[in-house]
Amino acid sequence: MSRRMLVIPPDSVEHKFLIRELIEELRHQEMFTQAIARIGGKPLPQTRMHKFIGNFSNKYLPADFLFMGSVSIEMVTDVYGNYARKNSQVYPVLRKMFDLHSIEEGRHIVFTKALLKDFSAKAGYIKRTLYSLSIVLNIYFLRTMYVKKEIFNRIGIENTEQVYKLAYNNFKQKFAEKCLGDLVEFVSSWNGFNGATRWAWRWLLGVKI
Ligand SMILES: [Fe+2]
Ligand SMILES: [Fe+2]
Repeated sequence: MSRRMLVIPPDSVEHKFLIRELIEELRHQEMFTQAIARIGGKPLPQTRMHKFIGNFSNKYLPADFLFMGSVSIEMVTDVYGNYARKNSQVYPVLRKMFDLHSIEEGRHIVFTKALLKDFSAKAGYIKRTLYSLSIVLNIYFLRTMYVKKEIFNRIGIENTEQVYKLAYNNFKQKFAEKCLGDLVEFVSSWNGFNGATRWAWRWLLGVKI
């Protein structure tokens, strides 16, 4: 976002919105950190692979690809945030956190979709294919961040390995069934599914398209 801000007019609506979004994303970081502290948790460090991909994409990918990635991640996190905040069994601090997150993410999604309309309208077959594949990789990356063996170790569960495997496969399946509907609709809206991309959606994300 800060890279994009350097190349657009400072008095444009887009510039104003990007400042707002940056402020809000930083606040989210603060909120997540405080929530982890409140429940007495200890943050899980990034894996080397996550660090490498994060650094690489931030440094080298063009703005339109980064915005495609961020809106797709926001759309998916919004869906499971909604499941969490509506579930009375979830700890109230976490539900409140998802409430606040959802309000601000809703704004980001509307803005980024509007911004990307221009990019996707101009995109030909190859660009649309690359957008679609980069979204698959973003979501695949996101999915690897949740079910971690270390969490089961920490809570002292027996048969850690088996429980972890079951939980991982269950998450993978539920994720494909319940969390990707909005995203599939978004990608269809600019014809991002074609012979060169469908396999990746099916194979890596388990989406039935
Ligand atoms: Fe956020
Ligand atoms: Fe956001």
